[in-house]
Amino acid sequence: MTMRPKRIAILDGPNLNKIGVREPHIYGTTPVVERIEVLKSTFPDVLFYYRQSNHEGVLIDWLHELNEKEVLGIVLNAGAYTHTSIALADAIRSIQIPVVEVHISNVAAREEYRHHSYLSPVVVGTISGFGVYGYHLAVLALLNKLSSNKHVEQIN
Ligand code: DQA
Repeated sequence: MTMRPKRIAILDGPNLNKIGVREPHIYGTTPVVERIEVLKSTFPDVLFYYRQSNHEGVLIDWLHELNEKEVLGIVLNAGAYTHTSIALADAIRSIQIPVVEVHISNVAAREEYRHHSYLSPVVVGTISGFGVYGYHLAVLALLNKLSSNKHVEQIN
């Protein structure tokens, strides 16, 4: 029997393509490519899909499409859409895959308009303030969630 790789999608929203050069005192200096390479080598049994868009509708389309593929979970940093987008929250509600919300910075400690997230009530959990290491934590949390779900299925 061949084991299918675990597939996890990482979705970045607006301006996250600029991480590494954008406000490095807030977001650090690790470029996206390096972050993805570190994830791949840290989790060799996971197949990562990485996508970034600056467009709200494109992110929504991807969430819908990922639902059709065999993706176990999604790590989503929606950038500023976190604080504005009911449409993204509805898209998360419309799919069956668990989504973990990630923020590189500690949004609760920043400007007041970053304190509210439309996404937090519809995701399985939120990781904020640990720099790009937050993506690593999100993958760990997803894998843990998925294995504990399996355990619940088995004992029921
Ligand atoms: C961010 C926080 C958002 O408030 C901001 O608009 C971003 C990045 C973060 O990763 O810390 O673009 O999501």
